[in-house]
Amino acid sequence: MADAVFTGQEPELMDLLAARPAFTMHAQDGLCFEGVPLNAIADQYGTPVWVYGAGSMQARYAALQAAFAAQALDVHIHYAVKANDHLAILDIFRRVGAGADVVSLGELLRARRAGIAAENMVYSGVGKAETEIEAALAQGIGQFNIESAEELDMISAIATRMRITATVALRMNPDVDAGTHAKITTGLAENKFGIAAADIPGLYARAATLPGITVRGLALHIGSQILSPEPYALAYAKAADMVRSLRAQGQEVTVLDLGGGIGIGYHDEPGMNLAAFAAVVKREVGGLGVKLLMEPGRYIVGPAGLLLASVVLQKQAGKRFVVLDAAMNELMRPAMYEAWHGILPVDAVLFHGPARPADVVGPVCESADCFAKNRMLPDLATGTRVALLDAGAYGAVMSSSYNARPRAAAVLLADGQSRLITPRQRPEDLWADEILPYP
Ligand code: LLP
Repeated sequence: MADAVFTGQEPELMDLLAARPAFTMHAQDGLCFEGVPLNAIADQYGTPVWVYGAGSMQARYAALQAAFAAQALDVHIHYAVKANDHLAILDIFRRVGAGADVVSLGELLRARRAGIAAENMVYSGVGKAETEIEAALAQGIGQFNIESAEELDMISAIATRMRITATVALRMNPDVDAGTHAKITTGLAENKFGIAAADIPGLYARAATLPGITVRGLALHIGSQILSPEPYALAYAKAADMVRSLRAQGQEVTVLDLGGGIGIGYHDEPGMNLAAFAAVVKREVGGLGVKLLMEPGRYIVGPAGLLLASVVLQKQAGKRFVVLDAAMNELMRPAMYEAWHGILPVDAVLFHGPARPADVVGPVCESADCFAKNRMLPDLATGTRVALLDAGAYGAVMSSSYNARPRAAAVLLADGQSRLITPRQRPEDLWADEILPYP
């Protein structure tokens, strides 16, 4: 992903490690995450296993808050539940006072189950179903981010029927190129998301008169894994212009939702410079006198999680294949977006050994089940553990049980302790819900 900013050089194992301070290497214990040896996790819980670091998540959340605070900005963070929706993760963000950005009733109910108040949630998405809208209103959802005129009418009708007022923001499509992978860009006119800027003034005025609706402001989200503040600057400038012209028309605008999308360094590219990003927010929208919201997902949880796997075997077939017990059904990103994830061996001795190219693959019967091509790695004997890095966001949430592979276990690290948060699925659970129609 974001190939444009890669140097083209493969980062060395030591460079990947050095760029990730939550990881340390010990001569005896090998690779540790938040001080916990990954070999011990694999011994205790088996592999493949997701390993999340609560400390890393809290630190990343705090860093984002600090960047805004340094600009004297009050930005309400609504964690994008889609990035990692595990209850234990949502609980971490509830404890630090975050709200939630949800895109389905399932996400809303998950976040409620984790104790996040519905009024502290924004509901985004192009296709909110009637039943979902009804349930969200019944729960007391804080804000709908409206993606079309049709949806606005639908929500007005439902809210009126329920004798309730829905608070809404209009999601403006700013037609800005976020410079990210085509499959995760959302802010171009050709994308299915949001409302064209030209249509916003008319729709806003209509929303202000519709029964069952209170229109508060604007929302935008231009894409994901954005590494430079520039596209944000363009989009936020357009949003600020829109706020000013709506006000000039006599409309009240009190909320601006800045969306998510802050990118991280997967390869050797630096992640978003938070100070520069916060400065852009300050410059473009800091003086508008609106309540600012933001919906980050990946930035907070991506580097705070990894997928720990074991080597099943190395296959020599012209080229070397390292076959893992993890597959595309766990971590889908390489198959879906050609995403690059760092792969580190867990044993210390392997870090300095001679490396040769290998394709790192899973056992699923698809050629796309490939985590890395021509990756420089040492000899990795059967049973050796490897960590697939930066898998805390869009990892477990996008997994499936394809090839009848039971769902992997998940472990949360906090204060140097590991706790099981998802048990490994038993094979018989795979078909537990299935019905034989002719018994
Ligand atoms: N708000 C809205 C309206 C969104 O659509 C998204 C992500 C976010 C916030 C959070 O974006 P983040 O801060 O995490 O970039 N599966 C893809 C990413 C899809 C993102 C979809 N929308 C991947 O693995 O890269």
